Amino acid sequence: MRNRSVIRFSILKSYRNMPKITSISGTVVYNSRGHKTIEVSVISDNKYLGRVCAPSGASVGKHEAINFPDNNPQKSLDILRSNEKKFIGLDPSDLKSIHETLRKIDSTTNYSEIGGAVAFSLTIASTESAARSEGVPLFKILTKDAHLRLPFPLGNILGGGAHAGIGTPDIQEILVCAIGSKTIRESAETNFLIHQELGKMLERHDAKFTRGRGDEGAWAPRINNDKAVEYCADTCEKLGYTLGKEVSLGIDFASSVLWNEKRGKYVYSRQGIERSPEQQIEFVSEMIKKYKLVCVEDPVHEDAFEDMAELTKKFPRILIIGDDIVVTNQTRLSKAINTKSCNAVILKVNQAGSLYDALEFAKLANKNNMKLITSHRSGESTDSHISHIGLATKSNMLKVGVVGGERVAKINELIRISEENNIHNMANI
Ligand code: PGA
Ligand code: ZN
Repeated sequence: MRNRSVIRFSILKSYRNMPKITSISGTVVYNSRGHKTIEVSVISDNKYLGRVCAPSGASVGKHEAINFPDNNPQKSLDILRSNEKKFIGLDPSDLKSIHETLRKIDSTTNYSEIGGAVAFSLTIASTESAARSEGVPLFKILTKDAHLRLPFPLGNILGGGAHAGIGTPDIQEILVCAIGSKTIRESAETNFLIHQELGKMLERHDAKFTRGRGDEGAWAPRINNDKAVEYCADTCEKLGYTLGKEVSLGIDFASSVLWNEKRGKYVYSRQGIERSPEQQIEFVSEMIKKYKLVCVEDPVHEDAFEDMAELTKKFPRILIIGDDIVVTNQTRLSKAINTKSCNAVILKVNQAGSLYDALEFAKLANKNNMKLITSHRSGESTDSHISHIGLATKSNMLKVGVVGGERVAKINELIRISEENNIHNMANI
């Protein structure tokens, strides 16, 4: 008798404590490129606010979620507003219910009706609202794991492609990761230092260097691809680092942008050269060996599963990362697993759509020993939720750029998370 009343009391207590979504609203705001995007606010129990701004890419994979129907952010918000009532009363931490409610409104695979930006903002804002109501940091809503490790910041130091103008390299991003650092602060500071010193080196080599930067804060000099990587390596070495030891370089080729289907070639138009698929694999292999790269991302185009598998087989100890080829999509990840196309994948929540989709993707990746790299987009906001998502999904790296307010915001949040929650161990690369 006594026991039963205790049980009834605890059920009543947890029922009373369970927060409920009381309102959802959205606004058209602007991202780091000054392009229109949306921000969604979720309030629980009339007081716990979660607010999230949707990012967007420039080198967008053809298989990823659509940001907005008809490219119209307002249309997304109008659909959300007319469906607001369906979310009222839900537990903001119950991602599955929120996701399923969203799926009843838009069941398309790529969120082409309501827009992936709504799926992204609504699900993360709900989680943030839940975190506020429980008085815990956001990552604790996503995982109960008590042995978390901090992802290594991976940042773009020099780039071109879809992120910068004519004259810059065709390669989208040359990245740095301080793989030998023992703390998050040391790894962040090493990345800042290398970015800074690289700027000085570029000035020494070109008196007309404007200190121009691309969309993600990486230097965007007038330089060809080979020299670009060479200068990045020289900078690290001049600072006394040994590549592959204290720091490593990585390259995001973003090859789908280079790939010309008609010609069957990778076209490096700024450098005036073309590469057949075989030559592309050879070029990537040379880069990996010459610069002891820690990772290469999208070294071949988004449908070249076999070519990607060739590189993965050839370099089992290098992170061969799938971004556009997998697009944070479980079906494509399953294909990549079955064909052994890559050993690491990018996690961009907005490629998948909802946070629920992205977490399911992360589970599948973790189960299959696929390393995870949680990533920003080139069009960003100063939000820093992905720092929590990267931690909770056991990502090995957090790809968030090096400089620029919207990039540093994510690094700073990782430092706060570390200090406030006593999480100091760094991930294994
Ligand atoms: P995006 O580029 O955000 O412009 O798509 C980032 C990447 O390709 O990793
Ligand atoms: Zn990429």
